Amino acid sequence: MRIAIASDHGGFETKQKLLLVLDELGCTYHDFGCDSEESVDYPDYAVLVAEAVVADEADFGVLVCGTGIGMAIAANKVHGIRAANVTSPDFARLARQHNNANVLTLSGRFVDFDTNRQILEVFLKTEFEGGRHKRRVDKIRSLE
Ligand code: RB5
Repeated sequence: MRIAIASDHGGFETKQKLLLVLDELGCTYHDFGCDSEESVDYPDYAVLVAEAVVADEADFGVLVCGTGIGMAIAANKVHGIRAANVTSPDFARLARQHNNANVLTLSGRFVDFDTNRQILEVFLKTEFEGGRHKRRVDKIRSLE
């Protein structure tokens, strides 16, 4: 599985640890930065990951900022992106099963690392259910 991943300074430490989890899971990844805890602007990173996903250079995107909220708002501006800001493994499962989310956004400041690790694993291992959910996701797509 190919992953595009990035963070801002608020998600940097979490993103670095998640790279090791991606290794453990056997994923290949492109790390778009950032590269330190120096302050940066999250939209600059969200767009890099979002564009890699819509260009099919990655199967999924992972974005980490302080809350995950700014990354989700920014990534969802890119047509074809369904970014979900997820704070629990159950929501990770549902974001895939029902919403066919293709970008996972995480909080580096308000969610502990073990929970984020579980969220990432569940997100990557859960399939979209299709059926009635496909009809709904198609309607989201028609809004673009
Ligand atoms: C940066 O201070 C913070 O605003 C950012 O990481 C994120 O939480 C935005 O949604």
